[in-house]
Amino acid sequence: MAAMGTLSYNGRKMFLVFMCVLSAVNCDDKVPLVVWASDGYALSPVNAPSSGHTVSVDELGSYLSRALSTSPHNLLLFLQDKLSVEDFTMYGGVFGNKQDSVFRNLEGALRSSSSSLWLPSVSSTAAASVSTLLQNQIETAPLYMNPDTLAQLRLNASVAALLVFRLPYSGGADVMMSAKEILSGNDEVIGQVIGIMKTQSVPYTAVFTALQPSRVVDEESLAVRSVGSRSLLQSRRGEPSAAYPPVEFKEKGSSCILLWAEKLVVSQYRSEKWERDDLASKTFGEGVMPNLNGSSCNETHSRLVLNYEDVLGFPTFRLIFIMNQRHYKVSARRWFTMERVQLEYDGKKASFNGSRHIYAPGEYSYHCASVSSSNSPQLFPHSAKDNANEWQISFHDLQIQGFNVTGKDFSYASDCAAFFTPGIWMGLVTSLLMMLVLTYGLHMIMQLRTMDRFDDPKGPAISVPQTD
Ligand SMILES: *[C@@H]1O[C@H](CO)[C@@H](O)[C@H](O)[C@H]1NC(C)=O
Ligand SMILES: *[C@@H]1O[C@H](CO)[C@@H](O)[C@H](O)[C@H]1NC(C)=O
Ligand SMILES: *[C@@H]1O[C@H](CO)[C@@H](O)[C@H](O)[C@H]1NC(C)=O
Ligand SMILES: *[C@@H]1O[C@H](CO)[C@@H](O)[C@H](O)[C@H]1NC(C)=O
Ligand SMILES: *[C@@H]1O[C@H](CO)[C@@H](O)[C@H](O)[C@H]1NC(C)=O
Repeated sequence: MAAMGTLSYNGRKMFLVFMCVLSAVNCDDKVPLVVWASDGYALSPVNAPSSGHTVSVDELGSYLSRALSTSPHNLLLFLQDKLSVEDFTMYGGVFGNKQDSVFRNLEGALRSSSSSLWLPSVSSTAAASVSTLLQNQIETAPLYMNPDTLAQLRLNASVAALLVFRLPYSGGADVMMSAKEILSGNDEVIGQVIGIMKTQSVPYTAVFTALQPSRVVDEESLAVRSVGSRSLLQSRRGEPSAAYPPVEFKEKGSSCILLWAEKLVVSQYRSEKWERDDLASKTFGEGVMPNLNGSSCNETHSRLVLNYEDVLGFPTFRLIFIMNQRHYKVSARRWFTMERVQLEYDGKKASFNGSRHIYAPGEYSYHCASVSSSNSPQLFPHSAKDNANEWQISFHDLQIQGFNVTGKDFSYASDCAAFFTPGIWMGLVTSLLMMLVLTYGLHMIMQLRTMDRFDDPKGPAISVPQTD
């Protein structure tokens, strides 16, 4: 478990991809699809389905024929091996700044296009037949291309064409390439192709989708699970199941924030050592009624305030979780983020920013085996000015949900290290070992040389020193 925490974020993501390869059966069956027309052209408006709906083959056919009825009939199809909506959120310019985005060219094209169609959830069978659907639209056979061959092709704006660009998701032979690098490379290809179309001044309609999803998302997810899922999370690690229910904050009679944790440790640096206190026993358990005075929630902002008496010698002490929820257009989904975790004591404040690392889809809860402000931190001091530097926070087995709470139970948990079950670890380790052995073997074989001295009769003869 500890080793897991040290794995980089990218490592984790790459690993998800890897997992999806190993257990194709488990892969959720939905991929996103985006259509846009080049600058100056527009798609016909389509009543896109609600974000929860999965688009079938027939529906996709009718959406495409509607959307493409007015747009250019030079069609570009970017067909990636794998893609999930989450890729846009993880690697796109959603949480970070725009320069960070690996979808720079795609996002640029979408921005400059006057109309686009986002289908966040298309069944992968429908996505796999998108080439056929497009072919039916314009009645020409597809041409499989790469940017080099495209550059040599003379396109004619008035002759319909379907150009298909296959883009990888996993690094092929180079397994160690991260998903981020690959996506970034694919985006370069998209950029090149669009550039070529521009220089040839051929208007186009482009479609970007994938054959399979890249991520395993459990789609019962939206169905609410009982508190029993907590024990499921735990028994997986061979620990006793949760004995106590989560803390529940109610507004106007209906619950709106849930929090559960095994440990809520706060430590302050005093006279050259860390004084620590675990607030869990004051927060959870039979007969414990934490004071939630000051908490609030509405559709976009949730604030859970836990009021304590006598923590580390402070007569009043507050632990505050501040969460926001927003709709992100690029992933067609609402996400909640932990904006801040704040300590208030003795009239002072210590705030930690969690917005970069602690987030989950809006309808989900967030779970993490360890959330901390020290090693591999998810929580960063909010500003140099306040007192966060003299505090450390460390939560174990934290689960929190600030939005879309239905009843006393958490929704499906979006786990910070979701797919690292022991089985997966074993799979990874075995594969890496095998790869090492193979690489080593190959290396040895390449090192083998025939002894050319024996082979070459013209070379100098071997002299054996005579000792008499
Ligand atoms: C494009 O195709 C049309 C019809 O086939 C033809 O008349 C026209 O000359 C072509 N234009 C170019 C630039 O090749
Ligand atoms: C809750 O806090 C308010 C001020 O923020 C205070 O006036 C009130 O007495 C508190 N109530 C309880 C039950 O602690
Ligand atoms: C979640 O809450 C938002 C508003 O707070 C609502 O629009 C949405 O339908 C809810 N989603 C679910 C799955 O309950
Ligand atoms: C939700 O609460 C925040 C502050 O707690 C406030 O700024 C915001 O306007 C509220 N939003 C709605 C929709 O009531
Ligand atoms: C928290 O950190 C993120 C990323 O580091 C930053 O963009 C954001 O402005 C910070 N939030 C606050 C409230 O300081």
